[in-house]
Amino acid sequence: MSLLDDPELLRRIDRGGMGRVLERWPEALLDALRIGGRLDVSQQKKDVKAVVWVGIGGSAIGGDLVKGWASDRSPLPIEVCRDYHLPHYAGRRTLTVGVSYSGETPETLNAFKEALGRGGPVIGVSSGGALEKLCAQKRALHAKVPGGLAPRGALPYLMVVPLLALAKLGLVGGVEEEILDAHETLKELRERLRPTVPTPQNEAKRLALGVAGTLPLIYGFREFTPVAYRIKTQINENSKTLSKAEALPELGHNEVEGWVGVPKDLASRLSVIFLRTPTEPQEIGVRIAAVKEIVSKRTKRVFEIRASGRTKLAQILSAIFVGDYLSYYLALLNRVDPTTLTNIPKVKRKVSQRR
Ligand code: PA5
Repeated sequence: MSLLDDPELLRRIDRGGMGRVLERWPEALLDALRIGGRLDVSQQKKDVKAVVWVGIGGSAIGGDLVKGWASDRSPLPIEVCRDYHLPHYAGRRTLTVGVSYSGETPETLNAFKEALGRGGPVIGVSSGGALEKLCAQKRALHAKVPGGLAPRGALPYLMVVPLLALAKLGLVGGVEEEILDAHETLKELRERLRPTVPTPQNEAKRLALGVAGTLPLIYGFREFTPVAYRIKTQINENSKTLSKAEALPELGHNEVEGWVGVPKDLASRLSVIFLRTPTEPQEIGVRIAAVKEIVSKRTKRVFEIRASGRTKLAQILSAIFVGDYLSYYLALLNRVDPTTLTNIPKVKRKVSQRR
């Protein structure tokens, strides 16, 4: 029996309950749809020319995912700002969406205050904290998402609620239908990924065992570039493991050359996960095959995550769901609680002492 099939081990290590959070994702999507549906964006209806999504870490990735998803349908540029300052161009006709799960992240609060100062429309999204208070003080629109989660576990809320706001403003279409499709897709996937499904039938457990003890390289493309990055950051935060994300076709023009000189002992400690989709363009499929052939000569640990679902949003979230479960099981193999963080709060404390 694989370690991952021992329910007692899971209970002992997953003290923060990340497994329960993942289990609820399909329902969280519907809950987020309801929260977003109640937003009154009438005050935000100005002549918006650009969208800036301000946030960090688990509160920023939803912006990258929305940007990737909307790339073939949004008439406006969407930029994600992970820093203290807004881009110079952001002004009265820029919609700023400030997302911070805790509502306390200094980089996000600072950039959001800049947006208020520049006079453009703003929306704050948090579970409370200083961001909620600031929005109340300035009479700015705020969407409150449920508290008590790790920010990265709250992705269904942190992605879908702002997305609904963009839909209500008429900036993107087809959102509700795709969220419902994502809900159905994740419900089906949950039946195959949850802890009670034994390793031989459980793709995420098998992936975790495959990449255990290695540095996983996640290779994405187009709208799956932020998916690769999300999986990398989940492996960092949940599994306490270094990981790296790259994207095709770019990596075929640089990273792939690095495999020529990779020392043998290092190559055997690297694993590669390619992200694939049923709707993947032919030019990408051909590139994946070419790169796969090269890396397979240096490491045996080469894997794929295949997205499922009918719509683009469902496909994006399905690959993330597999990746999140993979990072969860890898944490259990590493005997670390996926929820508890060590170095991130350390850095936050040092920064706050210096302010
Ligand atoms: O996943 C995490 O815990 C982090 O990446 C946080 O999202 C990040 O530190 C920012 O905090 P917040 O999401 O509360 O703004």
